[in-house]
Amino acid sequence: MIFLGLMNIVALTLCIIVLATCNHQAHASSHVFLGKKNDKSSVEGLCASAVTIHGYKCEEHEVITKDGYILSIQRIPEGRSEVKSNVTKKKEPVIVQHGVAVDGATWFLNSPKQNLPMILADNGFDVWIPNTRGTKFSRKHTSLDSSSKKYWEWSWDELVTYETPAIFDFVSKQTGGQKIHYVGHSMGTLTALASLAEGKWVNQVKSVALLSPIAYLSQMRTILGQVAARSLLSEGYTLLGISEFDVKATPIVDFIKGICAQPGLNCNDLFTALTGENCCLDPSAFNQFVKVEPQPTSVRNMFHLAQNVRNGVLTKFDFMLPHLNFWHYRRLTPPIYNLSNIPKNVPIFMSYGGSDALSDVADVKRLLNEHFQNHDANKLSVQFIENYAHADYMFGVNANDLVYNNVTSFFKRKW
Ligand SMILES: *[C@@H]1O[C@H](CO)[C@@H](O)[C@H](O)[C@H]1NC(C)=O
Ligand SMILES: *[C@@H]1O[C@H](CO)[C@@H](O)[C@H](O)[C@H]1NC(C)=O
Ligand SMILES: *[C@@H]1O[C@H](CO)[C@@H](O)[C@H](O)[C@H]1NC(C)=O
Repeated sequence: MIFLGLMNIVALTLCIIVLATCNHQAHASSHVFLGKKNDKSSVEGLCASAVTIHGYKCEEHEVITKDGYILSIQRIPEGRSEVKSNVTKKKEPVIVQHGVAVDGATWFLNSPKQNLPMILADNGFDVWIPNTRGTKFSRKHTSLDSSSKKYWEWSWDELVTYETPAIFDFVSKQTGGQKIHYVGHSMGTLTALASLAEGKWVNQVKSVALLSPIAYLSQMRTILGQVAARSLLSEGYTLLGISEFDVKATPIVDFIKGICAQPGLNCNDLFTALTGENCCLDPSAFNQFVKVEPQPTSVRNMFHLAQNVRNGVLTKFDFMLPHLNFWHYRRLTPPIYNLSNIPKNVPIFMSYGGSDALSDVADVKRLLNEHFQNHDANKLSVQFIENYAHADYMFGVNANDLVYNNVTSFFKRKW
């Protein structure tokens, strides 16, 4: 997605367009979605709206990145039915990182017994849920206003360079320098893989779980994904006047309508077209999803993901003009992220689905074949779930049984 991100945002954008304007049998949720976008109740924060209502403790924290972004991060320090013990055993911290165009709220669409952060908390972990720059709760900056162009001059490269390291440093400091587990979905897997390849936080991480892993995107099966990626590159320059990829902005709406108008595209169910046939989403959780998502990201980030889709290689952002690349990178083309540099001894769990249209099976196989052949065999655990698609990993009703329990036991393993 673009849940990975790209797709997420485009998918949902398309949903809106389709539901609101293309398709007269508008779904009830489209109204809610459109009506809620600016709901000021959002300023309460994720703890209040999604966590404490279920009886869990929750703390709101702020992390400041080296490039000045002020991120909100929630902490669930313990499980719901924790019996106050007098043994002060330190809990192991876990970072739970969402994908692109969504925020931490996507983890809380199901009941406490079904959602990943609460399952981890109930299993004795100290859980941290960051929200990426630009999303609802993370729009502050030390000097820039989120309405300024400069605020949006980043892609996932900056998440690798500045954002995830800041989050690791913060959680490490707050938890007495303990090693940290990391679980990411979609773009949260891409940033993890690229970070590890660049040597970021390799000494701070204890183990890593990647759900719907994204690195190579070239096999993305959705026609729509391909078209979106291509259109974004060819028509994208017209979007460059704006920097925030906000689905409500007129140029973005026009762009999506243009894609929607391509012959042969089924715009009736774009969410499925983009994320795959999710087997196991609960309708009320999905309704909740469209109430809280999508969240804005930057146009540059969408471009970067689109470049990854089109080129089939994992590189830093391509500024497209040789002199600009040279100015940024001291070379004419953007440097690659060489995932073969991921340390072989980092414990990694991956789970991918046979119906995932974004984290395509062929792309995941390529990732494994090209970069994980020499990984320590007992530190790599790969799960394949035939009927799972992209969103099932975030809020499938049975993700607790199929996936999250495996993540939890992987994190509990002694290496
Ligand atoms: C710790 O808790 C146990 C029971 O859980 C109790 O027997 C013991 O006295 C407690 N110790 C202290 C120092 O409070
Ligand atoms: C990536 O790194 C591996 C091992 O470090 C090396 O053998 C390979 O040539 C590198 N690939 C590229 C494209 O630089
Ligand atoms: C996931 O959990 C199931 C059930 O506990 C188990 O059979 C399976 O081997 C696990 N898979 C992985 C990759 O850990």
